[in-house]
Amino acid sequence: MEKISVKVCLGTTCFVMGGSNLQELNDIIPRKYGDKVEVTGSNCLGLCSINWEYSKAPYVKVDDEVVHEATVEKVLSVIDKKLGI
Ligand code: FES
Repeated sequence: MEKISVKVCLGTTCFVMGGSNLQELNDIIPRKYGDKVEVTGSNCLGLCSINWEYSKAPYVKVDDEVVHEATVEKVLSVIDKKLGI
């Protein structure tokens, strides 16, 4: 099975909008999913600038799926769904 790729946006907008809390994913994901999921940080994903006023930062991408207003719980539930857990 292909690994699920999780990209946590580390761009300024996402970081100040709460992305700093998402750093926990770097610990939780390997512990919970082993090598089935790969978590990396990413520069600005380009999503925050689409509509700044209504920005839903912080953003995380799980494969091609964009998680907006991301929280640790939200990201884990998207991963669980993909893995069929
Ligand atoms: S800073 Fe995260 S999408 Fe731009």
